[in-house]
Amino acid sequence: MVTWRLHRLRRAEYGGQAGKMRAMKSIVILISGRGSNMQAIVRAADAEQWPARITAVISNRPQASGLHFAALAGIPAVVVDHQAYADRDAFDAALVGCIDQYTPDLVVLAGFMRILTRDFVERYRGRLLNIHPSLLPSFPGLSTHQQALTAGVKVHGATVHFVTPDLDHGPIVAQAAVAVHDTDTEATLAARVLALEHDLYPRAVRRFIEGHLRIEKGHVIDRVAGHY
Ligand code: GRF
Repeated sequence: MVTWRLHRLRRAEYGGQAGKMRAMKSIVILISGRGSNMQAIVRAADAEQWPARITAVISNRPQASGLHFAALAGIPAVVVDHQAYADRDAFDAALVGCIDQYTPDLVVLAGFMRILTRDFVERYRGRLLNIHPSLLPSFPGLSTHQQALTAGVKVHGATVHFVTPDLDHGPIVAQAAVAVHDTDTEATLAARVLALEHDLYPRAVRRFIEGHLRIEKGHVIDRVAGHY
C-alpha cells in the first residue's frame, strides 16, 4: 500500500500532470509519535483521490515512528526538534519557517504534543485542525480516557476542532462517540476511541479540503453534511 502510493505520486509528479498537481491543495501534518491518525489521513486522501496532497509530515521528536510511514509513502518527513530551541517562541518560529515552505492550505495536528504559541495559532487561524480524544468541552488536556472513567460518563469519544489560542476549545467540526462499558480500562477505552478517530479525522479533513466548512459566530457550519 505504502509502496504503491510512492509509485503513484511519482507518476503524478513526473508524468505530465503538472497542471492538475497545481490545483491540488497542500496539507501539512504535524505529529509527535506513532502518527496513526496521520496514516489514516494519508490513506484516505489516496484511496478517495482527494484534491489534495500531504506535502509534508513534520515531527517535533526525531524518534517519532510515524516519520517512517511518511518517508515510505514518499512524503517529505521532516524533524523540527523542539529540544534544539531555547524557548517556545523560538521553536514555533522555526516550525512556521518549515511549514510555510510547503504553502499549506491546511495544517493538521495529529497527536502533536506541544502547546502552541498565540502567534503560531493566529498565523494559521481557520486552517489549523486538531483531534482531541474526548467529547469536548468535556475533558480537555491530558489523560482524557482516565478522566472519563473517573467521571463515570456512559459515553465518550473524540472531537475534531479548529485550533484557537484557548487550548482544546476551538470551534467543533465533528465528533464521534462510543459507549463506556463497566469493564473498560483506560487502555480498552483508548483503543475504541482511537478506532473512531481513524474514521472521523479523515472525513473532517476532507470536508475542509472540499471547502464545505465555514465558521460563523464561533460555530462550524458544514455546508452539506450538517453532522457526522
Ligand atoms: C490520538 O488519540 C489523538 O486524539 C491525540 O493523540 C493521539 C495521537 O495518536 N491528540 P496518533 O499519533 O495519531 O497515533
